[in-house]
Amino acid sequence: MYTTLAPVLAEAQRVGYTVGAFNAHNLEMVPPMIAAARDIGAPIVIQTSPGTARYVGMKNLVAVCRSMAEDEIVDVVLHLDHATSLTDIRDAIDAGYSSVMFDGSSRPFAENVAASRRVIEFAREKGVSVEVEIGTIGGTEEGISVAHGQLTQPEEAAAFVEQVQADALAVSIGTHHGSYKGKTAIDLDLLQRIHEAVPTPLVVHGGTGVDEADYTALTARGVRKFNVGTELIVAWTRAAKRTFGATEDHTSLRNNIVPANDAVAEVVRRKAGLFLGSTPVAQAA
Ligand code: 13P
Repeated sequence: MYTTLAPVLAEAQRVGYTVGAFNAHNLEMVPPMIAAARDIGAPIVIQTSPGTARYVGMKNLVAVCRSMAEDEIVDVVLHLDHATSLTDIRDAIDAGYSSVMFDGSSRPFAENVAASRRVIEFAREKGVSVEVEIGTIGGTEEGISVAHGQLTQPEEAAAFVEQVQADALAVSIGTHHGSYKGKTAIDLDLLQRIHEAVPTPLVVHGGTGVDEADYTALTARGVRKFNVGTELIVAWTRAAKRTFGATEDHTSLRNNIVPANDAVAEVVRRKAGLFLGSTPVAQAA
């Protein structure tokens, strides 16, 4: 079913698992991502940055996600990731996105509260879910760098959600966007304190750099949405380089692109399976 983030996270909260949220970077990636989630019976959040949304076309993304969600027996949420402008949020909602993230984390607290509330009011009217953020996540995403993240303080998170009733809350616990060469030291104690301070389902960004062995601990501490982006780009690009580099220029494109899509599906199947609660196994190099 094509659905919003709220019921998907409510079910994850009830049963006690985490939902994988995977960044699509082109339209090609979307069908294999949804099919991979179907294979293991997990709900999936397909998310795009505003930049990718404009590159692919918001309506095109909605059309593919909607039609696949109807054909495949799996819950699919289409989510706008890290939107900082109201225009992007309005356009995504008008196009049919079922969920949006408003990222006001770089603004002063009061401004983040006021802007997040405006987005929630607008989105709720249209039946769309909203994720907000408190604390900032460092690293590089879509070429935009935030030098140093600022860890989320539990008291500040509690004060924030008292005023901002969103469907999901992104928190900063030591992860960084775009870190694919090493693993991040996440602050599980901080996460536990945030979890005890706020009832909202928590979101971890910068998932590529998180050790898979830590997933169980994250789920146990209230993480219900977990974002993975860079690992999919790396998987797609490596497979595409291999195939494009090994074939003649006139080779049918699908011969080169299908292996790249398969590599993405493999990552989604693996991660979504782990999020549903299977035992972590050794990660590929
Ligand atoms: P990574 O690219 O580090 O996996 O982070 C993805 C993300 O958090 C998207 O918001």
